[in-house]
Amino acid sequence: MAHEAIEKNVGLMAVLIIVVISLGGLAQIVPLMFRATMVEPAEGVEVYSPVRLAGRDIYVREGCYNCHSQMVRPFRSETERYGHYSVAGEFVFDRPFQWGSKRTGPDLARVGEKYSDDWHRLHMMDPRAVVPDSNMPAYPWLAENMVDPEQIQHHMRALKRLGDPYSDDDIEAAFDELVGVTELEALIAYLQGMGTEWTGQDQTTSMAGGSE
Ligand code: HEC
Repeated sequence: MAHEAIEKNVGLMAVLIIVVISLGGLAQIVPLMFRATMVEPAEGVEVYSPVRLAGRDIYVREGCYNCHSQMVRPFRSETERYGHYSVAGEFVFDRPFQWGSKRTGPDLARVGEKYSDDWHRLHMMDPRAVVPDSNMPAYPWLAENMVDPEQIQHHMRALKRLGDPYSDDDIEAAFDELVGVTELEALIAYLQGMGTEWTGQDQTTSMAGGSE
């Protein structure tokens, strides 16, 4: 009887459909909301130092993510080229994450320590100086612009409010660390740290250089 009543009443049917779909949606969404806060930093991964944080802001401002991803996917073709695939715990301090979805240039998730600081300096000033066929733009203004220490302190305070473990002393000390630092130096510090912190990558199977 109830079934017949529902089938003959479009309004009631619509309401009940919405209720059922919402329950399905909630069942998927709610657990995710809690899981996001449960991801722990991977072993060795720490909050960004003020200089690297400043460099990260420049990376975002200059739109490097339009050509570079920061996410090594778990495929052999990727792990052979870039190293261990990325794990969730590597990104807990990335707000917002820079995974990207476009690779005009190579993935940068593990670019840290691959080149010298001098290489990066040349490459950012004029990519063609080190990679003749490169179509990456040059960023010469980064060498002239200075990082704004107060702005980074504000940024650290905001991140602290979101739960990043910066102490008041860290934030206070950041000012001195950032005075006189060029945007280029900050960006290079950021790049050189990428993918180098997580200590677990040597212990787990990376699929790179396996024995098949
Ligand atoms: C128009 C696309 C484009 C943009 C925008 C771009 N890049 Fe690139 N990038 C490339 C290409 C292509 C390469 C490979 C050739 C080369 O090394 O220059 C590359 C290479 C690199 C490399 C060397 C990677 C490796 O493993 O050899 C780094 C580091 C890098 N880019 C950093 C940056 C940063 C930082 C920014 C933003 C300030 C940026 N790129 C913006 C296209 C781009």
